[in-house]
Amino acid sequence: MSKGPRACVIGWPIEHSRSPLIHGHWLEHHGIEGAYEKVAVAPEDLKRFLSSLAEQGYCGLNVTVPHKEAALSLADEVDEAARAVGAANTLWLEGDKLMASNTDVYGFVTHLDESAPGWRGKNHPVCVLGAGGATRAILKGLIDRGFGDIRLTNRTRQRADALAREFGPAITVYDWKDRQGALEGCGLLINSTSLGMTGAPPLVIDLAPMLDEAIVADIVYAPLETALLRQAQERGLRAVDGLGMLLHQAVPGFEKWFGVRPEVTGELRSRIVADLEAS
Ligand code: ATR
Repeated sequence: MSKGPRACVIGWPIEHSRSPLIHGHWLEHHGIEGAYEKVAVAPEDLKRFLSSLAEQGYCGLNVTVPHKEAALSLADEVDEAARAVGAANTLWLEGDKLMASNTDVYGFVTHLDESAPGWRGKNHPVCVLGAGGATRAILKGLIDRGFGDIRLTNRTRQRADALAREFGPAITVYDWKDRQGALEGCGLLINSTSLGMTGAPPLVIDLAPMLDEAIVADIVYAPLETALLRQAQERGLRAVDGLGMLLHQAVPGFEKWFGVRPEVTGELRSRIVADLEAS
């Protein structure tokens, strides 16, 4: 067993998580004698697992599907981002208290800050596709940055309506069949559905009605260059891939557990891209 601090990622299933690769890269880069493991935890074992972290030698962890909502309710203290999103993905011990945050919000906005500087720009209308867990983090990030005209559309309209009720008047819901109209005059489009992912159906949308200076961001990162991003480039728009959100959301957790703020570098990115291409 490693002598330094130990953290882990838990999920059910957990085999495909890339988090060990990301944190393993940073541990190696910073010469930290710690460990980041992946552990399969069934839903019925979550409570027991979280209440015995210290005995197991863990200082904190990431939680992924299907534990993000339950982890929020099992934590002793929850930060504002996790509360707003309604889910936690990063936990750590402070004394005997279990603290929880949601770093997807940070990951989303930081990735845009770095890959599309000025994205907040003129507060143009934004279109968001989807209404799942990732969408919640994105809406929180957009509202934090002051966007006032967010057009939300989802195949199952009730899920989008529920988000609009929860996140407030900045959000207008469009029917999924009217998503094309929702793009009119938009300066930013974010796909937070699984459409376009390897093995999923394609996302059918024409970017023509968007502003010429618009940005198109996809949360899908397998494939890294989705058909949506290719269409954006062909139309001369700025295209932002989904991998950066995954990499940046890992930064605050690593800092909490291992005491060093790591960087999202080209080297890290290449390592994850190579792994994605190999799988
Ligand atoms: P996550 O929590 O990772 O965001 P999710 O809750 O399964 O995952 O959300 C997936 C999103 O992709 C949802 O917005 C889903 O639409 P529904 O709410 O109608 O299920 C969307 N999605 C998945 N398959 C789709 C399809 N074939 N057409 C349109 N939207 C789809």
